[in-house]
Amino acid sequence: MVSRVIPVQPFDLVIFGGTGDLARRKILPGLFRRFCAGQMPEKARVIGAARADMDTAGYRAVVRDAIIEFSDETPDDASLGKFLEHLEYVPIDARGETGWRELAKLVRADVVRAFYFSVGPSLFADLAERLNQHGLTDEDSRIVVEKPFGRDLDSAKSLNRDLAAFFHEKQIYRIDHYLGKETVQNLMAVRFGNMLFEPLWNSQYVDHIQITVAETVGVGGRGEYYDKSGAMRDMVQNHLMQLLCLIAMEPPSKFEPDAVRDEKLKVIRALDEVEPHHIVRGQYEASEKGKAFRDEVGDSRSRTESYVALKVGISNWRWAGTPFYLRTGKRLKARSSEITVVFKELNHSIFGDGGEHRNVLSIRLQPNEGITLGVTIKEPGLGGMRLIDVPLDMSFADALGDEGVDQTDAYERLIMDVIRGNQTLFMRGDEVEAAWAWTDPIIRGWEARGDVPKPYECASEGPGDAVQMLARDRRVWRKVSP
Ligand code: BG6
Repeated sequence: MVSRVIPVQPFDLVIFGGTGDLARRKILPGLFRRFCAGQMPEKARVIGAARADMDTAGYRAVVRDAIIEFSDETPDDASLGKFLEHLEYVPIDARGETGWRELAKLVRADVVRAFYFSVGPSLFADLAERLNQHGLTDEDSRIVVEKPFGRDLDSAKSLNRDLAAFFHEKQIYRIDHYLGKETVQNLMAVRFGNMLFEPLWNSQYVDHIQITVAETVGVGGRGEYYDKSGAMRDMVQNHLMQLLCLIAMEPPSKFEPDAVRDEKLKVIRALDEVEPHHIVRGQYEASEKGKAFRDEVGDSRSRTESYVALKVGISNWRWAGTPFYLRTGKRLKARSSEITVVFKELNHSIFGDGGEHRNVLSIRLQPNEGITLGVTIKEPGLGGMRLIDVPLDMSFADALGDEGVDQTDAYERLIMDVIRGNQTLFMRGDEVEAAWAWTDPIIRGWEARGDVPKPYECASEGPGDAVQMLARDRRVWRKVSP
């Protein structure tokens, strides 16, 4: 793997919620890896800010434990020690006065200033206001906000308004960690870096496209959040929507933030309203492989979906008539994220073979990243011209050698992009609002109809109704396989 370390300016990165789950699991281990890769400048500092009353030494001990716990490999002790020297801590009250003066004294004016809001959205407005009030920011400072960015269009609009009162759009970095995944970026490279695909990438040649994000995990300890959210808000409105945009958008004129985001926005705005019979919601049941969803969230009558499958249409010149089938769910048979482009049948076969042959391009996002192209060839041997379909299989690990699969975590890449001031892989405010504008009527429809999700077995491929939804269109889902 040929990773290139792009030097970044010295920075002060303040992490509000610096002792929380996301900071300990993802942000701090990610920063440590960037430190080990040599990307963290000597003068860079990470300042944890949270309610817990502790000093910098106490915080460094918390971070040391977190990095040891959440790193894939045992961290080198000397490097870890040096990384921890970059850390400071300030106890802070987002809604009160505690800690703000101390923070203002600590944060330097002559470096890149970034503020990571690793807290619930109910605190975004308070933090933005306090930062401004205490003179902690200027025109070049950046804030980073996490999903969920609202739970519907109104709340997303109001968050956008709260942030816009103190920050310009170019200062706001809304994270969707799927955009930081190496293979998700590879979607753009495959589409726009090859002559081969783009001419066929439209409804004239593509029969349909499937996007699957299947997980084996259940809701685990996140029951309270998840029960209020469900797969539609947790996964479809953001991660699957981003995948759909990247696969369906027009080629941007340049690989630059607004050029890419303008094209994604056009896709979202061209999405058709989804008809109720083009949606299947599911909820996992208990089995010997795991507890039921309702037991995990502690509500025996919960109607929240842990699975959703949808048939989506895009009304534009390129895609009218080509359906996109999206599905995501927890406690499925395998962890597998994949985008499959199924091309149309030949309009005439000279072989009179009678079989159905189609090219199928499958882009595997995780795990075992790679691309498979199904091609039709002659079955070897005598006996006439018989056709078979075989996969041209390219696993990136095989093609690029042992180190071929980049292990960079999405967060590492995204945090460094914040410091570099590159917004390409972040969602713009209008994009998030457009995604909610499409999602809202679907969720409201379920609420109005009192829709009850279909049960499905743990470790299955999801509810049978999703299979029927495709069968009605004479199509089949790809197998969910590891
Ligand atoms: C998160 C969702 O955004 O993405 C989780 O809240 C989900 O419910 C996770 O499990 C999936 O991310 P990944 O990177 O494991 O595919």
